[in-house]
Amino acid sequence: MRLFLDTANIDHIRHGVELGVITGVTTNPSLVSKEGKVDYRELVKEICSVVPGPVSTEVLSQTASGMIAEAREVAKWADNVVVKIPASLEGLKATSVLSKENIRVNFTLCFSLNQALLAAAAGATFISPFVGRLDDIGEDGMRVVVDIVQFLDYYELPTQVIAASIRHAQHCVLAAKAGAHIATVPYSVLLQIIHHPLTDIGIKRFTDDWRNVMGETGILATRTESDPHELTN
Ligand code: G3P
Repeated sequence: MRLFLDTANIDHIRHGVELGVITGVTTNPSLVSKEGKVDYRELVKEICSVVPGPVSTEVLSQTASGMIAEAREVAKWADNVVVKIPASLEGLKATSVLSKENIRVNFTLCFSLNQALLAAAAGATFISPFVGRLDDIGEDGMRVVVDIVQFLDYYELPTQVIAASIRHAQHCVLAAKAGAHIATVPYSVLLQIIHHPLTDIGIKRFTDDWRNVMGETGILATRTESDPHELTN
């Protein structure tokens, strides 16, 4: 499962990419708004220049013709732009048209297998089931991811699943177990999933054991009789 960052914050994106594990980014109008009043085109271009893979940007129009016009414009901003289109009737129509023009679509705000089925039929590159928002209303968000992955596998369809609206580390584990192609995670979750208390305890114990015998001598400063030319400090 690949990891995307779900944010429009350029510093967080740079950090994720520096860590070598973030291969794409997803944004939406709410995430962009958190960055204040920005030059949207410049922001998207900057994100696209930092990120090695797909960068999803969402349309605001609610009619198919409006979505198509926005998507055609946004697709010119960078080669790795993907257009996020909502899973509405108008969005479906727009997705069918854009896919035929080889503009990559991320069919978003998806909450059911039926919406995913239509996205795949319309040629969407990605489908984004929103796990956390389904959990919020007492449904099992991850069940929808499992069902969509199974459906796409069964019919050998190329649409990729982005598990979205990921809220915590356990969502990430379950998305991987479900076979989601990608999980798009908030920056806070990215920082959370590397952390394990036993790792911290283990690092401390190894360091303490070494120092008890070697003192403050580091690995690069050690020398043995059989290897007299090794670095001494
Ligand atoms: O990628 C979708 C995501 O931005 C929505 O997350 O937490 O607002 O449901 P959330």
